[in-house]
Amino acid sequence: MKQSMVSVTFGCGLVFMLAGWLGASLYAQNKIALTPPMGWNSWNYFGCKVTDADVRGAADAMASNGMKEAGYIYVNIDDCWQGERDGQGFIHPNSKFPDIKALSDYVHSKGLKLGIYSSPGPKTCAGFEGSLGHEEQDAETYAKWGVDYLKYDKCSWRGTVPEEIAAYRKMHEALAKTGRPILFSLCQYGDDRVWSWGASVGGNAWRTTGDISADYERMAYIGFGQNGLERFAGPGHWNDPDMLEVGNGKLTDDENKTHMSLWCLLAAPLLAGNDLTRMSHQTLAILTNREVIAVDQDPAGFQGFRVAQEGPLEVWVKPLSDGSKAVGLFNRGYTPATVTAYFKDIKVAETAAVRDLWLHKDLGTFRESFSATVPRHGVVLVKVRD
Ligand code: GLA
Repeated sequence: MKQSMVSVTFGCGLVFMLAGWLGASLYAQNKIALTPPMGWNSWNYFGCKVTDADVRGAADAMASNGMKEAGYIYVNIDDCWQGERDGQGFIHPNSKFPDIKALSDYVHSKGLKLGIYSSPGPKTCAGFEGSLGHEEQDAETYAKWGVDYLKYDKCSWRGTVPEEIAAYRKMHEALAKTGRPILFSLCQYGDDRVWSWGASVGGNAWRTTGDISADYERMAYIGFGQNGLERFAGPGHWNDPDMLEVGNGKLTDDENKTHMSLWCLLAAPLLAGNDLTRMSHQTLAILTNREVIAVDQDPAGFQGFRVAQEGPLEVWVKPLSDGSKAVGLFNRGYTPATVTAYFKDIKVAETAAVRDLWLHKDLGTFRESFSATVPRHGVVLVKVRD
């Protein structure tokens, strides 16, 4: 951790950091994403096949299954909604999305918000129309439709780093010009140290990695790889290790809990990526555990970091606004193991109370350390208060 702080300061540059802080404070003033955004995105489950009906289905589910009350608000259409531009250059949706204004009204009628997707390049990753040369027109169109969130995905865009920064800033300015608060989510896979300039171009979040997939290895590689980026995140501007795969693929309940715990410790955006109309009770319970979500949504907005590692066993901590610490005891190995969090590592006093956040259970008062048996690929997530 220390090492990365040093390389940040003397590496890519103080200038970027200052720009980042400036952007961050401007964004905090705009009151967008003061805590990490929560919602759903179509890509991880529906991919390019997504339709208007799928998005309505997700909105219906989110509004009625307890997710909305737990904080999930954004219903985001990813790639593959775009049709052709008209003679004036305005974008129209394809036949899978007959009327985005009507869809947006529907989503808003449920007390939710609508997100959309585009690219600074000529084409999106799936080969649909991007926004290059049409930034203002597209921003205007999104605002007219009632869009609340834009994921802006690099895809076919090519150029130098300063040009890339300018391309993202251009869309931010176009969005700002509409007067509609639209959360701006940068997606360029963590290239070019985006965390050092993302906030300065108006980013409320920026992807820090390539795409996630619904398997433990990829999810763990991404999630546990976030250590060191914590100083770049805060209210209004978040590191984004990609959308959730909870409930997708063959992830076990323990793996899903690891995924969710890690993303919450990381103060990551929580965008569910499964089919909300067909999920198990256990998946829904994992997505909606209030005490776990509260770690992600803590108003202080600190991103957690690793404090100890021994082979496949890791301890991560996230300082919370009430002075307590959220602590994740992770076992990345293949057999159950005892993981110990030492209080001096997590910076709490010699004696502290421990509460299990998945189980909603006070575990008692401990001296110097807390140990737990953690299943393979599993986690014990606790709150430690001295
Ligand atoms: C990229 C992004 C994904 C998704 C697809 C859509 O791969 O990283 O999250 O948006 O494009 O084509």
